[in-house]
Amino acid sequence: MCGIVGYVGKQKAVPLIIEGLKRLEYRGYDSAGVAVLHNGAFEVAKKIGRVTNVELQAAKQKLSGTYGIGHTRWATHGGVTDENAHPHVSSDGRIALIHNGVIENYAQIKRFLLSKNYTFKSETDTEVLCNLVAYHYAKEPVATNGDSRFVESVRKTLRHTEGTYGIVIMATDAPGELVTARKGSPLILGLGDGESLVASDVSAIVSRTQSVVYLKDGEIAHLTANSFAITTLDAGTVEPVVDKVTWSITDADMGSHSHFMEKEIFEQPTALENAMRGRFSEDGSTANFGGLNISANEFRGVDRLMFCACGTALHACMVTEHLIERFARIPVECDYASEFRYRNTPLFRNSLFFVMSQSGETIDTLAALREAKRKGYKVLAINNVVGSTIAREADGGIYQHVGPEVGVASTKAFTSQLLIGAMLALYLARMRDMSFSDGTQMVQALKGTPDLVRKALLQAPHIQNIAKRYAKATDMLFLGRLSLFPIALEGALKLKEISYIHAEGYPAAEMKHGPIALISEQCPSVFFAPNNEIFNKVVSSMQEIKARKGPIIAIITEKAELPAGLADEVIVIPECHEAVLPIVASIPVQLLSYYIAVERGCDVDKPRNLAKSVTVE
Ligand code: G6P
Repeated sequence: MCGIVGYVGKQKAVPLIIEGLKRLEYRGYDSAGVAVLHNGAFEVAKKIGRVTNVELQAAKQKLSGTYGIGHTRWATHGGVTDENAHPHVSSDGRIALIHNGVIENYAQIKRFLLSKNYTFKSETDTEVLCNLVAYHYAKEPVATNGDSRFVESVRKTLRHTEGTYGIVIMATDAPGELVTARKGSPLILGLGDGESLVASDVSAIVSRTQSVVYLKDGEIAHLTANSFAITTLDAGTVEPVVDKVTWSITDADMGSHSHFMEKEIFEQPTALENAMRGRFSEDGSTANFGGLNISANEFRGVDRLMFCACGTALHACMVTEHLIERFARIPVECDYASEFRYRNTPLFRNSLFFVMSQSGETIDTLAALREAKRKGYKVLAINNVVGSTIAREADGGIYQHVGPEVGVASTKAFTSQLLIGAMLALYLARMRDMSFSDGTQMVQALKGTPDLVRKALLQAPHIQNIAKRYAKATDMLFLGRLSLFPIALEGALKLKEISYIHAEGYPAAEMKHGPIALISEQCPSVFFAPNNEIFNKVVSSMQEIKARKGPIIAIITEKAELPAGLADEVIVIPECHEAVLPIVASIPVQLLSYYIAVERGCDVDKPRNLAKSVTVE
């Protein structure tokens, strides 16, 4: 729960440490503190409450320097007081230390230190550890492997320590040096340009550097602004592995959420606003895209569209297919990028080729793009990561502009792809048969999407309760029709990706041609039943499931009236325009999968065997 940040370099340490501590705030804490070395003595600011309290206190005390440590505490030993907050300084004033974890034999060590005239101001096990380092440091231990006295005193201390720790230490006689060690609490070294950092979480480092070393249990690191060395508790040397963090600073902000997936689900109203910003014509009747690099005239000549993608992005292509065919009346074909590349699909003279990819790095999608280009077609990309390989190799395209998506299960990237697909359908439709008034109506509907998504998100507590009731299912069906069939596929994909429940998506009426064999009291079906012209047909499919004792979770729009008792659970979403419906209907299935996975104790953001971006075939 505690957070650790240490800095040594050229910059003012306190603001950087405070910024790092703020990035760790999501962990939960009750007090915080910072320490710097000034004129050979430690200066410490500690306060209970928020990190801003320490920030103000440090400013009041005029803490300065380019070297320091900071900590957010979640109380274990000793109450929530300024004294108990870290950093702690040894009673001889020579050592300052921050600590995550619990020192189990602290009472015994404390007795020993009291007998040696060390004194204590706090009730914490950390202050005990700090004084034990000071005790060994004062004895001027000699390292057999040539390590400094500072490192060796830490090593000696840790050999007498039982419990868990992630610690960072400063010594008055070693200005510009940090010693850090871990056992059971994470620590990461950040290697910057003329500066080094250490933190309990990458999020406190990424604003300074992407080069990191993940410290392992039993390792001790010695850091200066321009160097680092890692040894073990047994004084062995370690060959460090420097990793590159692919996160940016915005990724690192999870706010109050438990998982990036949750954060990204709730970010969708803003993400959708960003995806459509500046992309409607001045007369408000159509969409505008800046980076297509194809003239309106060329677009008008297109008589066929081909979309290729993988995973979730392919489902977004399938919804786009439905909307383009429905509104612009242009034939569209979608294919798995991995199949397209080997299938030798016939393309037509006036075909236009699209690829869709959140990351812009998926190897199969990239291969499909290259194959289409080899055949002489222009390829456009719908892509989120700016500057990705796909973005660079495409002839033009549309960026999603939803910011970094960290959760492996795509959510905000998916709904923004749906939105861009709908805007593309509008753009193509207005070049053909769609009237000005139908265009303005659709623009208004698209502009209203973020608010409708906000409304759908209000169902979260209700969906969380439903998730608790169905979390033990071993199989689940997702059934939808028309533009919601791909959302059924996506619902099933989401569920299996993060909760490992076997799930299948089907067109609702197709269910009776096979999947109905799976129906039992143990196999729930999620139905999309919006208030539209085929609502009654979907109700008939539900009846068929009900007759076989299959539990039903119905996702309906406000005006849809289900026969009483047909569905076991009902989730109501707002009525909306056809082009917006797939987006709004995605929200309950994202939430359902998320809460079921959480209920099952799954690692939501890092599902087993999956990667956010698959760069192998
Ligand atoms: C991986 C991810 C999926 C994603 C797919 C396509 O399989 O686990 O969530 O939909 O790749 O990724 P892309 O970046 O091309 O959209």
